[in-house]
Amino acid sequence: MNRAFLPLVFAALALAEGTAPATTPAPAKTGAPVSERERIYNETIAPIMEKSCVGCHNAKKSKGRFRADSLAGLTKGGEDAGEGIAWGKPKESSVYLLAAANRSEKLAMPPKKSDKPALTPAELEILKNWIETSK
Ligand code: HEC
Repeated sequence: MNRAFLPLVFAALALAEGTAPATTPAPAKTGAPVSERERIYNETIAPIMEKSCVGCHNAKKSKGRFRADSLAGLTKGGEDAGEGIAWGKPKESSVYLLAAANRSEKLAMPPKKSDKPALTPAELEILKNWIETSK
């Protein structure tokens, strides 16, 4: 083999190695850092959504193309009413606005005729605070 060619071969090998798929181990489940936003979501918000919203907003059935069964789904919102959650701005967050809407409003959630309970004033306050303050 042409000696001048060898360094090129090595360089190519090094490059190939550099682009190999990352082998970083997945973060351990226990002790992985969870943001304040996620912690409150897991402990407090998810159970509220489960009780009043997830029945109609999940993987199989997502009315208004909205999913209430994950933090990502909540944040994204549905097809018409804009962002589900605008962090820091509950009054611009469709999830909060629809849940807090007067029960006589057409778009109030859950719909008046459904068998799911509306959020209580205390739950609405929790949701509002979470949107307002979680970073
Ligand atoms: C009994 C079923 C039912 C339940 C329970 C329910 N929804 Fe809905 N939701 C609907 C339907 C139907 C639509 C579509 C309304 C439309 O497009 O006119 C909708 C649409 C939405 C949308 C999308 C609006 C848009 O188009 O952007 C959001 C956000 C939403 N709901 C939030 C909630 C929240 C929050 C809860 C719980 C507090 C909840 N929903 C509970 C039936 C339900």
